[in-house]
Amino acid sequence: MVKDKVCIVTGAARGIGAAIAKKLGENGAHIAFTYVSDSSAEKATALENEIKAFGVNAKAYKSNASDFVQCETLVNDVLKEFGKIDVCVNNAGISKDNLLLRLTPEQWDDVMNVNLKSVFNMTKQVIRPMMKAKAGSIINMSSIIGMRGNAGQSSYAASKAGIIGFTKSVAHELGSRNIRCNAIAPGFIETDMTHYLKEGTAAESFLKDIPLGRFGKAEEVADLTLFLASDMSSYITGQVISICGGLNI
Ligand code: NAI
Repeated sequence: MVKDKVCIVTGAARGIGAAIAKKLGENGAHIAFTYVSDSSAEKATALENEIKAFGVNAKAYKSNASDFVQCETLVNDVLKEFGKIDVCVNNAGISKDNLLLRLTPEQWDDVMNVNLKSVFNMTKQVIRPMMKAKAGSIINMSSIIGMRGNAGQSSYAASKAGIIGFTKSVAHELGSRNIRCNAIAPGFIETDMTHYLKEGTAAESFLKDIPLGRFGKAEEVADLTLFLASDMSSYITGQVISICGGLNI
C-alpha cells in the first residue's frame, strides 16, 4: 500500500510509533524514525533491523521533536539519506497528568512542547520537499481526550485539541499542493503510556464506556495510519479519525 514511499515517524522506539514504523515498513515503505533518550538506543537499533528485514531501508535518528533546530537537522539528514519525504507521522507525545490545582507551569510547558510544538516543528520542515513533489501525507497523533477533555488532563487535552486546529489549518493551506493532513484520535490503547490504567477500578470504569469492551492495540492504530499514509485515502484531508472502540459515541 505504501511501496517505496519514504516515511518519517517520530517517537517510534516503542508503543504506537514502533507499531506504525513496522506496519509501514512491512507494506513496502522506507522508514526514518526517531527516538529521544539514550536509553532507547538499543530498542531503536533492534527496530531498525526488524524493519530492514522487510527488504526496505530503515534508519533510527536520535532527535528531540520538541526542538525546532533538531527537527530541521533531522529532515535535512533524512533527505540526504532517503532522497524524499512522502509521509510524516507526528506520533511523539507525553502526558504529565495532574489536577489543575496542582499542575505546574513547567508540566504545562513540557506537554505543550512535546505534543504540540513538535507537530509544528516537523510539519514546517517536511512541507518544503512535499511542496516540491506536489504530494504528501501528514498524520498527527491527537487523542479523544483532545475532543472531550478529562479531569486531570487539562494540559494533555489542550495539546491534543491544538493538534486538531493545526491539522485542519494545514489541510486548508496545502490542499492545493496535494498535501493532505489528517489527525488520528485514539481512545485507550495498550502501551506504556496507559499501563497504569489497566489495573483496578479505573480500568473497569473506562471499559464499561467502551462498546467494544476492550482497550485497543497499537497495531490497530498502525492499520489506520497505513490507510492515511497510502493513496487509498487520496481524497481525505483535514479529518480527525477516532479509533476508540466506540468510546466517543
Ligand atoms: P509511549 O509513551 O509508549 O510512546 C511515546 C513515544 O514518544 C516514546 O517512544 C517516547 O520516547 C517518544 N517521545 C517522547 N518525547 C519525545 C520527544 N521530545 N521527541 C521524540 N520522541 C519523544 O506512548 P504511546 O501510547 O505509544 O503514544 C504515542 C502517541 O499516541 C502519543 O502522541 C500519545 O499522546 C498518543 N495517544 C496514545 C493513546 C494511548 O492510549 N496509548 C491514546 C491517545 C493518544
